[in-house]
Amino acid sequence: MAGVGKKPIKITETVLRDAHQSLIATRMTTEQMLPIIDKMDKVGYHAVECWGGATFDASLRFLKEDPWDRLRKLKAGFKNTKLQMLFRGQNILGYRPYADDVVEYFVQKSIANGIDIIRIFDCLNDIRNLQTAVTACNKEKGHAQVALSYTLGDAYTLDYWTDIAKKVEDMGANSLCIKDMAGLLTPYQAEELVKALKSSTTIPVELHTHYTSGVASMTYMKAIEAGVDIIDTAMSPFALGTSQPATEVMVEAFRGTEYDTGFDQMLLKEIADYFKPMREEALKSGLMNPKVLGVDIQTLLYQVPGGMLSNMVSQLKEQNAEDKFTEVLEEIPRVRKDLGEPPLVTPSSQIVGTQAVFNVLFGERYKMVNGQFKDVLLGKYGQTVKPFNPEVIDKVLGEEKKDVVTCRYADLLEPELDKIEAEMKQWKQQDEDVLSYALFPQVATEFFKYREAQQKKVDASVADTKNGAYPV
Ligand code: CO
Repeated sequence: MAGVGKKPIKITETVLRDAHQSLIATRMTTEQMLPIIDKMDKVGYHAVECWGGATFDASLRFLKEDPWDRLRKLKAGFKNTKLQMLFRGQNILGYRPYADDVVEYFVQKSIANGIDIIRIFDCLNDIRNLQTAVTACNKEKGHAQVALSYTLGDAYTLDYWTDIAKKVEDMGANSLCIKDMAGLLTPYQAEELVKALKSSTTIPVELHTHYTSGVASMTYMKAIEAGVDIIDTAMSPFALGTSQPATEVMVEAFRGTEYDTGFDQMLLKEIADYFKPMREEALKSGLMNPKVLGVDIQTLLYQVPGGMLSNMVSQLKEQNAEDKFTEVLEEIPRVRKDLGEPPLVTPSSQIVGTQAVFNVLFGERYKMVNGQFKDVLLGKYGQTVKPFNPEVIDKVLGEEKKDVVTCRYADLLEPELDKIEAEMKQWKQQDEDVLSYALFPQVATEFFKYREAQQKKVDASVADTKNGAYPV
């Protein structure tokens, strides 16, 4: 029975999305998920986060799975629990800004295939990049949750957060989330922030954090006492480290209090028992690195999310420059400052991280920049809380300075869908394929080829059996 306390805390379970994205590079397959969802559906979760974020890309790229097919299967299994996805605002689930027609169509198809709650964020907290997705979600009768990417810096005062929260509420969001992707929010800061948000808005407030720096469960406790409505947790085999606090632990911590969830601990144990061998296997194969399971205090010093650290390490490894790790780590806050102190979350985290690597490896800052970094300076990703460093603009953009945009970049983009559909027509087996291709043209094409080859194999083996059974 869920919710026996007077003010039961609501729980969003992340094991099917963020937890495996954070601990095993998003490699959990649909087949691994399906056998347990019947039990998960009985827990009484507020929602199960199970789609979006990196799962879309990883399904197509590494698992050779159709992400839409996964969503439909999850929907068929979760009969009583709301399904939640993570959505990168105008960047959808990709790494660049898309035209509004693609954003709207993606929202429509996500809800049509089974998503109930869309958690929408922007990597720069530029709320102009949230509006199209929020409006589309409202229109499709989905629950639009806006997530503010939590970060630290002079500009990020309590006033900043309450101000932006009010704007988000006015924009049509049904709830608000503090998305602390790096685990920077400490317990007493959380108390202060939640109190301020609860008194300045009327919509429910959810807290999403990561265990990376070791403070997360204390942070949840103070946030709950301060009135937060929902917290995000992961089943224990995929909890802690760079993932979320453990579901069972948070449930037990509040048992018998006014915040009691009423969740059945025996049922949770059965679910944990299901995931345990998956964890053991991942540790054995090296997919789960024990390094991501401990407390990493560097994250507090450099404000770098866990996923970004592992990306950086692999970039340095490729260049045989692992010894430059500390230097790159120290360069990150400097690059972030040059870019107006944005939060570090996909894709800004990759853009800042890659630039920090370039600045160190090339021995001269901004001697080499990639296209995305330039696009940030050109204003295509939106506005940051502080201005960009003018010296960096001069060095990187030069003559192109005249092309800097200050409006919402998507206002300048022509509708893209028709062109995209024409490009991929030969592969289309369902409407959703157009969206897979829109986000990841090369990866999706590879997947479509693979899918066709698999289908041919199946057809051939069916024909064989038929021939065997009914010789002609
Ligand atoms: Co997260």
